Amino acid sequence: MEFLGKPRSQRAAFLPLCLLFLKILHPGHSHLYSSRYAGDKVIRLIPNTEEEAYALKKIYQQLKVDLWQPSSISQVSEGTVTDVHIPHNGSRALLAFLQETNIHYKILMEDLQKVLEKGSSLPTQRSRRSVSGYNYEVYHSLEEIQNWMHHLNKTHSGLIHMFSIGKSYEGRSLFVLKLGRRSRAYKRAVWIDCGIHAREWIGPAFCQWFVKEALLTYRSDPTMRKMLNHLYFYIMPVFNVDGYHFSWTNDRFWRKTRSRNSRFRCRGVDANRNWRVKWCDEGASMHPCDDTYCGPFPESEPEVKAVANFLRKHKKHIRAYLSFHAYAQMLLYPYSYKYATIPNFSCVESAAHKAVKALQSVYGIQYRYGPASSTLYVSSGSSMDWAYKNGIPYTFAFELRDTGHFGFLLPEMLIKPTCTETMLAVKNITMHLLRKCP
Ligand SMILES: *[C@@H]1O[C@H](CO)[C@@H](O)[C@H](O)[C@H]1NC(C)=O
Ligand SMILES: *[C@@H]1O[C@H](CO)[C@@H](O)[C@H](O)[C@H]1NC(C)=O
Ligand SMILES: *[C@@H]1O[C@H](CO)[C@@H](O)[C@H](O)[C@H]1NC(C)=O
Ligand SMILES: *[C@@H]1O[C@H](CO)[C@@H](O)[C@H](O)[C@H]1NC(C)=O
Ligand SMILES: [Zn+2]
Repeated sequence: MEFLGKPRSQRAAFLPLCLLFLKILHPGHSHLYSSRYAGDKVIRLIPNTEEEAYALKKIYQQLKVDLWQPSSISQVSEGTVTDVHIPHNGSRALLAFLQETNIHYKILMEDLQKVLEKGSSLPTQRSRRSVSGYNYEVYHSLEEIQNWMHHLNKTHSGLIHMFSIGKSYEGRSLFVLKLGRRSRAYKRAVWIDCGIHAREWIGPAFCQWFVKEALLTYRSDPTMRKMLNHLYFYIMPVFNVDGYHFSWTNDRFWRKTRSRNSRFRCRGVDANRNWRVKWCDEGASMHPCDDTYCGPFPESEPEVKAVANFLRKHKKHIRAYLSFHAYAQMLLYPYSYKYATIPNFSCVESAAHKAVKALQSVYGIQYRYGPASSTLYVSSGSSMDWAYKNGIPYTFAFELRDTGHFGFLLPEMLIKPTCTETMLAVKNITMHLLRKCP
């Protein structure tokens, strides 16, 4: 358990000193991502009329903005909040346009580079591994996460088994942890994935947190013990491994996979639009340069195909599919691709309602919940809809903190509260499905 524990008080005194030294030793390293986001802004806009929405779509296209919310320009519409990341050389043009047209806006971030450097400190400046054990309150690189998985596989073989379900486009292993007490009896299972979208770093941090909590509280917490005794959890901490790696090394705001296209220079497919369920319809793009590109065909991405194969093979005993995204503070269930109510709606709805209440009980953070189509936006080809259509009765997608103040740059300070409250929601859903629902 040494590896999991982290007596904070001991470390607290040590850390500042340690940071100070590293700052002195690496003065030139303070410009993350070669300062490519210096002067970039993040702006929130709410078009009040169809005309305004139309005008915004046009200028977004012209200026090649990086849309944070919603995920595609086609989803920009009257009354919906849009958060855009505008590169420094386009911000003057956008602001002039907004003043001219009188469209309401609010600058969320004046200088994205500064926010980025403040919120998540440099890899060299922080304690990647705390003095004793592992630090779950920083974001970890892919390599660190994979090393952590290997380590747990060795040290906690009674509850954890690590295996690979395939290889990514760039040849990285797609690792999954099977968590739960091994038993001869038939056990139902829950699938959890994090990091389908590369830039949503809080996702993988939550997956790690979940595993840590499970191992730490298995003996002391009756709920956790029940969960691990009666169920297996298949946990994939980083779904989109290539994209996640790229978001550490090159582009912090990369979303898609990293596959190449035969006809365009743009790379990557939206791994949450690539599933064979109303594939490439509303809310997905056919254009390889778009952030919601559905890919050349369903399951074209090796990462998607590997997970789909695994779920197909194990669907008889997988009772729930949970996918972790950011940001919006929402708990979503099917359908994503159409406005319609799922069969057995009341079971899923009450599970979501209770989970959100449990989450809110910790710090008062409010989540909206409901069908993804009407709560967030319509999107086709999503993993959640696919899992549901393939017979997994409880499928949910979490959109974790926050609602745009930090967006994808949720500071490391907020990892602990975010994961703590989310843990309660996940436990609540899990207990719900252990009981019979009419
Ligand atoms: C801003 O710079 C990028 C990269 O240098 C360029 O591709 C883009 O066209 C520029 N945008 C504007 C509005 O000048
Ligand atoms: C996890 O541990 C088991 C048993 O110790 C081993 O057989 C397996 O290869 C390990 N998994 C990985 C991915 O290394
Ligand atoms: C609804 O739930 C009942 C009881 O769990 C189950 O037998 C039935 O197959 C479900 N129907 C659908 C359409 O999922
Ligand atoms: C789930 O959440 C509801 C609402 O907060 C609460 O009443 C219930 O006790 C929770 N159940 C579990 C098992 O945590
Ligand atoms: Zn996402």
